[in-house]
Amino acid sequence: IYADSERASVAVAQQIAELVRQRAAEGRMCVLGLATGSTPTRLYEELVRLHQQQGLSFRNVISFNLDEYYPMAPDSLQSYVRFMREYLFDHLDIESENIHIPDGTVPQEQVVEFCRQYEEQIQQAGGIDLQVLGIGRTGHIGFNEPGSGATSRTRLITLDHITRTDAASDFYGEENVPRRAITMGVGTILEARHIVLLAWGEGKAAVVKRMVEGDPTDSVPATYLQQHPHVQVVLDEAASAELT
Ligand code: F6R
Repeated sequence: IYADSERASVAVAQQIAELVRQRAAEGRMCVLGLATGSTPTRLYEELVRLHQQQGLSFRNVISFNLDEYYPMAPDSLQSYVRFMREYLFDHLDIESENIHIPDGTVPQEQVVEFCRQYEEQIQQAGGIDLQVLGIGRTGHIGFNEPGSGATSRTRLITLDHITRTDAASDFYGEENVPRRAITMGVGTILEARHIVLLAWGEGKAAVVKRMVEGDPTDSVPATYLQQHPHVQVVLDEAASAELT
């Protein structure tokens, strides 16, 4: 628990930088799982600063994003491809062929095969070393909404009403928010070697309490993180306010 999200974001950026550097020193690739949304923006800004001012290189980084709306054109204002380019990738030396984001343009009949291949690409990269997560008010991680089981894999899901309400301002009205998304599954996320979940602000305090103190359940998929051996939950004071 940090005094504020600024300090927390800088600390997590430092941690990621150390892992990337350590891997580079060993001549190995570093596989990062990345999230979008408002929560990691300061973290990404700090990683860009470390690249620009301290020479932190991302040439040995392979990235896999958690999710993308479906359908979604990559150049749309709300696409996660665009988000990641704007906040992170356009400012780093990461190789474009090492960037993976679920494709919101895949024809519906090919989505199952696309998701299978996404999982395969993660495996071929050697698995995710460090997965960054946010948490939605529904208890989702990625877009694994309530009802998502611990063994769920990358797939097309239906977004929860609350999630669509939370995204409404980005889409100039809830009616414009896509009803579906492609997301890594809870099981996919749990295979990452290390997980760092970030949550800021009083709006997340109730779901943070359920995630940390509640029994593991499909109703709050983030509770399954309790079953992972190496998870860090990084909070600001406000998000931690309801913890016992
Ligand atoms: C985004 C994602 C979601 C968000 C969550 C929190 O890639 O997977 O789980 O992390 O909805 O969103 P923000 O950070 O906007 O509160």
